Amino acid sequence: MSRSANRQFNIAPGGCLRGDIRVPGDKSISHRAVMLGAIAGGVTEVQGFLEGDDAMATLAALRALGVHVDGPHAGALQIHGVGLQGLSAPVAALDLGNSGTSMRLFCGLLAGQTFTTELVGDASLMRRPMRRVTDPLAQMGADIRASEAGTAPLSIQPVSSLHGIDYVMPMASAQVKSAVLLAGLYASGRTTVTEPGVTRDHTERMLTALGYPVERDGDQVSLVGQGQLTGGAIDVPADISSAAFFLVGAAIASGSSLTLRNVGLNPTRIGVIEILRRMGARIDIEPVSSAGGEPSGTLHVVSAPLHGIEIPLELVPLAIDEFPVLFIAAACAQGVTTLSGAEELRVKESDRLAVMAEGLTALGVAVEPKADGLMMSGGPIQGGRVHAYGDHRIAMAFAMAGLVAAGPIEISGCAEVDTSFPGFVELAASVGLSISVTEQKE
Ligand code: S3P
Repeated sequence: MSRSANRQFNIAPGGCLRGDIRVPGDKSISHRAVMLGAIAGGVTEVQGFLEGDDAMATLAALRALGVHVDGPHAGALQIHGVGLQGLSAPVAALDLGNSGTSMRLFCGLLAGQTFTTELVGDASLMRRPMRRVTDPLAQMGADIRASEAGTAPLSIQPVSSLHGIDYVMPMASAQVKSAVLLAGLYASGRTTVTEPGVTRDHTERMLTALGYPVERDGDQVSLVGQGQLTGGAIDVPADISSAAFFLVGAAIASGSSLTLRNVGLNPTRIGVIEILRRMGARIDIEPVSSAGGEPSGTLHVVSAPLHGIEIPLELVPLAIDEFPVLFIAAACAQGVTTLSGAEELRVKESDRLAVMAEGLTALGVAVEPKADGLMMSGGPIQGGRVHAYGDHRIAMAFAMAGLVAAGPIEISGCAEVDTSFPGFVELAASVGLSISVTEQKE
């Protein structure tokens, strides 16, 4: 899963985005579709699965745990579920590449097994904090060993049983909530998670769609362990986090008019649309009927002048993955944009506050980083060289900045774009971005 090539994006300045496209399937829902399908009884048929490296790492790990999967072929796959107790010991460590979601959700899924599993990943994943999941799982009776620093490699030891807990999450994290709920499936009694802020609820929705009762009461979600999931059909909508690059690109590049088909519009994910609209973006939504408990719709976006805003705190967890590209929108807006309450951005695939501030500064944008956010003034974007530090969302965000830059932008460290958005370069070029790729051996 590690990459030896440094891929560079080269963006020629100018242009606009026009056309009618569908971006690839939702990453969060793809992980959950195959994980929950694997531990359900019977066959689960998935359409629209994201064939990016992260979700493919989850799929490979499930195969190593003894699950038979046909596909994927053009996003379609069939999982032959083994039931809650049917996973078997893998012969080697599970390599989860760049994927934090895979590692944290597998901690929950594997915490109550009767065999040992080792979890590893690439250099970025091996730096990311794991105590946020291993601590609550230990309270449930799990035995997961990490490095001194609380990072992978993780060794999940066999245990005889888990018990349900009432867990008040210290941070708003869907991965932590999901890990605790997945372990809760194996635990005796009730497992309850209280969220300090709203986080994506795909795990709860998919459990419900596969016939597993989940209760929601205000900021609490709970389930009773040792029930059964029943395989079914799951239709994965297009990923709003991938659509976000195109929403911002079309909003900032004058003359743009773009349609994005069948985008997932789960209310816990649409912060990017709300924030862009508050900045003046013109985005229309045409709802489409939802399949498998996840609403979706067609988005139409045309360019419009943007203005800076103070981003409301309650929208931060609803747009947590979209801030790299929202900073590009803010750089093109008139006036000041401020973000606070977003310290989680420092522990994503890169320190997204530091890396975006560095790149924006290199492009002549006035940015003031803060511990939990940043403040920036919109203004002209110059051409220049920036580094994405192997973070997929940073690479794609700076690519969109090229639409309004005064000169060419070169972005190095772009190989990880395939983790969430295979085909980004071709799709972006097809609607008007002047993008080319240079591969350099490191
Ligand atoms: C994800 C949850 C989010 C998000 C990540 C995917 C998920 O992280 O940033 O890209 O699929 O559960 P948090 O755990 O911080 O909410």
